[in-house]
Amino acid sequence: GAGLSVTRRGFLALSAAGLAAATGCAGGGGRPSATPGGLSLQPGPVILDVAGHEVPTWGYGTVPGPEIRLRAGDTLRVRLHNGLPEDTTVHWHGLAPPNGMDGVPDVTQRPVPPGGTFRYEFRTPVAGSFMYHSHVGMQLDRGLYGPLIVEPRDEPLAYDREYTLMLDDWADGLDDGGDHTDHGGLPPEAAVDGDPTTAVSFGGRTYPLLLVNGRPPEDPPVMEGRPGDRLRLRVMNIAADTGFRFAVAGHRLTVTHTDGMPVEPVTVDALRLGMGERYDVLLHLDQRDGAWQVGVAPEGRPGWGRAVLRYAGSPASSSPPVTAWPTELDGRPATYGDLLAVEPPELPAGAPDRVFDLTLQRTEISGQSYPDADPLTVAEGEWVRVTMRNTSAKWHPMHLHGHHFQVLTPSGRGPVKDTVTVPARGGAVTFDFLATNPGDWLFHCHNHHHMTDGMVRLVRYT
Ligand code: C2O
Ligand code: CU
Repeated sequence: GAGLSVTRRGFLALSAAGLAAATGCAGGGGRPSATPGGLSLQPGPVILDVAGHEVPTWGYGTVPGPEIRLRAGDTLRVRLHNGLPEDTTVHWHGLAPPNGMDGVPDVTQRPVPPGGTFRYEFRTPVAGSFMYHSHVGMQLDRGLYGPLIVEPRDEPLAYDREYTLMLDDWADGLDDGGDHTDHGGLPPEAAVDGDPTTAVSFGGRTYPLLLVNGRPPEDPPVMEGRPGDRLRLRVMNIAADTGFRFAVAGHRLTVTHTDGMPVEPVTVDALRLGMGERYDVLLHLDQRDGAWQVGVAPEGRPGWGRAVLRYAGSPASSSPPVTAWPTELDGRPATYGDLLAVEPPELPAGAPDRVFDLTLQRTEISGQSYPDADPLTVAEGEWVRVTMRNTSAKWHPMHLHGHHFQVLTPSGRGPVKDTVTVPARGGAVTFDFLATNPGDWLFHCHNHHHMTDGMVRLVRYT
């Protein structure tokens, strides 16, 4: 469509007026194939090209899957054709569909068997940067994910182009003798808090490789712009087990949304994203030229992912070295306390109708492991408050399906989100939501290992 520009190896850039297109990667990308009834998503085996290594895995045609782009008020219509050798579903992360469309196997739908189909159809009234992914087991970890953008009817932000960056950790299929284990060779002083041995990990498993839009550091996605341009970046953490810092050398980031929901713009050095979290930022191209490192550093473990920001006309030779560390990564990241909701929920006066005080342990919630766990019972119309205290050594990014919640911060105007990271070793977060979407909804840690180990509760409407 108009405004589509191809930078390198299939990495597609969209102008503000861009139509649906892939965020790019091996395999050519493309739109989800349109059928008369809507879009079609076909999960199945794919070959991911990781800097010349052909890695067999699963995806929706490509990794990430094709971008789905709608406008607020549109109806999402997707026919899922299961081309995998096992059951699957699709979950629309951050959207609040009717319960039966939420894609949670054995909770909101029967899983779709190999060769089977399922039709997802629901209105998408709320604009934002969302994701879709399989909700069966660890399928997401193999590459069954993609971006889902709902544009507002009237875009209040002014920008020249936009890019979506999906950050992933990658472990499978690289036992080929390549030296992916010391990928990027981060200098030790670059580790979080300067001490990699004491750093607290999100999860602690070995994901030697970090990918941005399915691409390794040697073959990064390239974003382009002209001096003076404003780029909108939609940064999404879809990793199974890795929290990231994100920064752009030579530039600061103006946060405009978190988890798709608008916040008062605030300019910071860096972002910190737990798994499942998204940030929209504006990047003002206020340098003259050159190519700038877009750094993606895991919290608390070695590794390195990156993209490159190239000013139009700058030679390829100006590319930053693979591991060049943007000092902005060590600057101050946006915190929840910095963010002020533009559209906070209208909570009634007085006190919450229901309060849940939860302890987040290694992979349990208050001593219980799903499915042998009590649902959090709410009634329609209630104001519900959830407080979480993390007593473990792992960060837990907690995600609530079917609702947006407001994080309680000292300002009283905390951001509206659907995924919130509760820091390790005593970290605590409280959020409020209005129970307006009846059904059985998952509330879980978005570390997918923790989730499959049982770090899940149901929010159940009575
Ligand atoms: Cu993105 Cu239940 O998850
Ligand atoms: Cu967790």
